[in-house]
Amino acid sequence: MKKNIKVGVVGCGYWGPNLIRNFRALPDCQLQLMCDLSQARLNHLRQLYPEVEGITDFAHTLNGAGLDAVVIATSVKHHYPMAKASLLAGKHTFIEKPMASSAEQCEELIDIARRQGLVLMIGHTFLYSPAVRKIKELVDWGDLGEIRYICARRLNLGLFQKDINVAWDLAPHDISIVLHIMEQMPLSVNCRGSAHVTPGIEDVTSMCLNFPDNRSALIHSSWLDPRKTREMTIVGSKKMIVYDDVAQIEKVKLYDVRVERPPHYDTFGDFHYAYHYGDMHVPYIKQEEPLKSECQHFLDCINEGISPLTDGVRGLELVRILEASSESLRQSGAAVALRSSGAREFRSSTVPLDRSDARPRQVSSLMPEAGSVETCITG
Ligand SMILES: NC(=O)c1ccc[n+]([C@@H]2O[C@H](COP(=O)([O-])OP(=O)(O)OC[C@H]3O[C@@H](n4cnc5c(N)ncnc54)[C@H](O)[C@@H]3O)[C@@H](O)[C@H]2O)c1
Repeated sequence: MKKNIKVGVVGCGYWGPNLIRNFRALPDCQLQLMCDLSQARLNHLRQLYPEVEGITDFAHTLNGAGLDAVVIATSVKHHYPMAKASLLAGKHTFIEKPMASSAEQCEELIDIARRQGLVLMIGHTFLYSPAVRKIKELVDWGDLGEIRYICARRLNLGLFQKDINVAWDLAPHDISIVLHIMEQMPLSVNCRGSAHVTPGIEDVTSMCLNFPDNRSALIHSSWLDPRKTREMTIVGSKKMIVYDDVAQIEKVKLYDVRVERPPHYDTFGDFHYAYHYGDMHVPYIKQEEPLKSECQHFLDCINEGISPLTDGVRGLELVRILEASSESLRQSGAAVALRSSGAREFRSSTVPLDRSDARPRQVSSLMPEAGSVETCITG
């Protein structure tokens, strides 16, 4: 029988309330508390959900509330200390993207979760979206042929962050989709960008992930654009996909178009490219809130003792790419090699957790420092 998992959500700013709404609505879950430094945010949420406790003290989330799982939706700098404290207290832990501020922090969190036999899941929400799941299905069925390159654009006006640049804020969504499709880590990363509004914090970035076999992904992220754009083009040797996440309907379009070089020709006059123009197909995609599936997956992984699709390793890979992008920005766009580069076998399904050495601990000395009230950011 499924256990009714007691969950607490930390961080009730812009994104936290979406997690609160979803966890509260799921039958396998008892949303027990909401935690934020801002009493005003808690008052607002308590009006919506009066049965859920609202607290300002993160320590109580870990030691006094009897929770099974903690969901962290604070700004990125708080992810590592809060997640570390949560895991050491024996709580299954969900961290919003990006997992932490450095690869080293991610590695430590993965290690603690493994030793404790706990579920560690990262909020790479788009991998739970029906559109991305359909795209992955089409790629896996071989409909597109060999994937040649991917081009992603995620643009809008704001919301400006003070402590991370636009690549750390918006590109995680695209990087997670690209890695899911490519099933490989890139060999290197180039990133150029500029800071127009806040000195030192790039508000426009252009990142290139360079994969083996001449494959690549371009990711353009911006807080300085008049239109909200969330577009991705996936180019295969046989077919191409255009994915427009802003579209209300027909988000994914499969184009039967390609270009081929003739294998043999005798004179230059004989040479010409072969362009193929076929039909455009719009696959049926079931409407479903990605966040609901993501929250359900977290609960299922806890109940079944399995590692999530978006586990700590996925979070770490993404943060490695972000770190390389920051280094490339410092080097004016030079290619920065990734430490664990090249092909790696991506898991296609979840794997069981080792819970043999699991033991919760008290963590009052590991509590993160209380920060100031944050401003909203976009996803
Ligand atoms: N998955 C997605 O699609 C998506 C979308 C948007 C944001 N996010 C992620 O969600 C996270 C939060 O983003 P946001 O836009 O909601 O940020 P935000 O600044 O609006 O909210 C953060 C909240 O955390 C609270 N907080 C800070 N320190 C705290 C502490 N010590 N104890 C308790 N509460 C504390 C702040 O008071 C604030 O209300 C980020 O990691 C962001 O990248 C994910």
